[in-house]
Amino acid sequence: MSNLYNRLAKVYEAMYQSFIDYEQEYQFYNKILTAYRINNVLEIGCGTGNLASYFIRNKMGYCGLDISEPMLAIAQKKNPNGKFIQGDMRHLQINSPLESIIVTGRTLNYLVEDTEVTSAFHSFF
Ligand SMILES: C[S@@+](CC[C@H](N)C(=O)[O-])C[C@H]1O[C@@H](n2cnc3c(N)ncnc32)[C@H](O)[C@@H]1O
Repeated sequence: MSNLYNRLAKVYEAMYQSFIDYEQEYQFYNKILTAYRINNVLEIGCGTGNLASYFIRNKMGYCGLDISEPMLAIAQKKNPNGKFIQGDMRHLQINSPLESIIVTGRTLNYLVEDTEVTSAFHSFF
């Protein structure tokens, strides 16, 4: 799968914004984060940084993580002030405490085996 996004990062970038309302999604997540007084978010599977742009613009502490370097390169180019790191959600290694993690369904659905789901949620915890 990761190879898919490595090869098609530019296609993804051109396509997804045409049919996903990222602003509406940002409002959805931001409402929940605000209710819990969250100021920092880690987005797992951030892709090319479409949601990132909204969090960064609105001064939320934001870090995007993705398994695909080409996706991260586009995200970083679009959001020069953003923080983006490479990682695998099934084996996260983050040593500092996090206030919140978000993962869109479009990323979670790449966990296809029960063991992968368990590993990912274990590493989120
Ligand atoms: C359909 S894209 C969604 C990207 C972004 N969340 C969005 O909505 O625009 C799925 C993303 O999940 C990433 N991904 C897939 N498996 C992953 C894993 N095990 N760990 C981290 N990222 C992963 C892919 O590289 C890709 O960027």
